[in-house]
Amino acid sequence: MRQLLVVGNWKMNGSRASINTLLGDLVSAPAIAGPEVAVCPAYVHLPQVLELCAVSAIGVGAQDCSHMQSGAYTGEVAAPMLAELGCRWVILGHSERRQYHSESDELVAAKVAVAVAAGLQPIVCVGETREQREAGEAEQVVSAQLEGALRGQVSLDSLVVAYEPVWAIGTGLTATPQQAQDMHECIRSCLEGIAGVDADATRVLYGGSVKADNAAQLFAQPDIDGALVGGAALKAADFLAIISAAAA
Ligand code: 13P
Repeated sequence: MRQLLVVGNWKMNGSRASINTLLGDLVSAPAIAGPEVAVCPAYVHLPQVLELCAVSAIGVGAQDCSHMQSGAYTGEVAAPMLAELGCRWVILGHSERRQYHSESDELVAAKVAVAVAAGLQPIVCVGETREQREAGEAEQVVSAQLEGALRGQVSLDSLVVAYEPVWAIGTGLTATPQQAQDMHECIRSCLEGIAGVDADATRVLYGGSVKADNAAQLFAQPDIDGALVGGAALKAADFLAIISAAAA
């Protein structure tokens, strides 16, 4: 039985003041005790968030890490630095990284390797564009992204996959529960063919305009094991409603 996981990806949002307010409302909420919950703020907010979450069950993660262990990589943050700080999770291969920073599957694979070696749990994002879906290529694209990021990794016990169709991110368009379930089933069968992955135990999250009013239907699907939430994670009431749907 896979425990549901709800992760808030705050992207490049928030200030010290807004985070105090948001986490003030989240850490004491009873709903937090239901599924596993984590938040991923911008790097600079990690120490503050780790301190505020220390007294709660909310885990903390970063939104990215370098593909290198250490060295002359100006502007980068290494996985061991995140682990030392107390992060448990790291989002890798988000479509916004792929789109705005030209991240390839090879780069994502290198990041997965350093993250796992540092003891972080990678949340590896995959997803097709609208054009790819319309061309009937969605499953092929997502399977290739998974293979590219995961094949040949030494250890993937802690892996989480997030299916985020690019056309559903921040658009208000959500994959229907059936579209999402179909892709999650495809992801799980692809994981079965990758050495080192326990496909049955690996949580596959859905992301892309998850809201309070569509979360329950998504979580009711057999292969959807939680959500990676963007916009709705920035308001305590909205995020808590999604967490409650996962606890039901
Ligand atoms: P939205 O929930 O804002 O669509 O963002 C999804 C996402 O990209 C989470 O990583």
